[in-house]
Amino acid sequence: MKVTLKTIMLGLLVVGILVAGAIYLTSFILNGGSVDIEAGRQFAESNCSRCHSIGPAGASPLEAAPLFRTFAKRWPLESLEEALAEGIFTGHPEMPEFELTSQQIANFIGYLETIQQR
Ligand code: HEC
Repeated sequence: MKVTLKTIMLGLLVVGILVAGAIYLTSFILNGGSVDIEAGRQFAESNCSRCHSIGPAGASPLEAAPLFRTFAKRWPLESLEEALAEGIFTGHPEMPEFELTSQQIANFIGYLETIQQR
């Protein structure tokens, strides 16, 4: 096959469509495609609730621990998502370290979204 500008353009078009498809799929999954809110709530319940208030009401068992429903007031939830993905947690001397899959993070952030006071 003779490589002309036309075949190169056609090739770029095909690659572009494939890349766009992959990006769409990724964002679909991250943006609620398979987010399990209940699993996210359970994660918070079993790992965070002994110190934090994790629900739409109630005080934190540990007074110093911020209410989960006020997180979005302090910073965008995406920055929490990033911190979780990188395993970075500030202000948690007593907290166990977590290894979360991106699915677990998506579930957890999805749950947080449902309880935020804006
Ligand atoms: C052992 C008690 C304890 C547990 C368990 C705990 N936290 Fe905390 N968390 C705290 C305390 C205390 C603070 C406030 C620390 C401070 O302000 O210095 C805090 C602060 C935070 C903050 C704010 C950090 C900042 O930089 O302001 C986030 C986000 C957070 N916790 C998320 C979580 C999540 C998510 C879980 C469960 C996976 C969790 N915490 C489990 C005690 C805990």
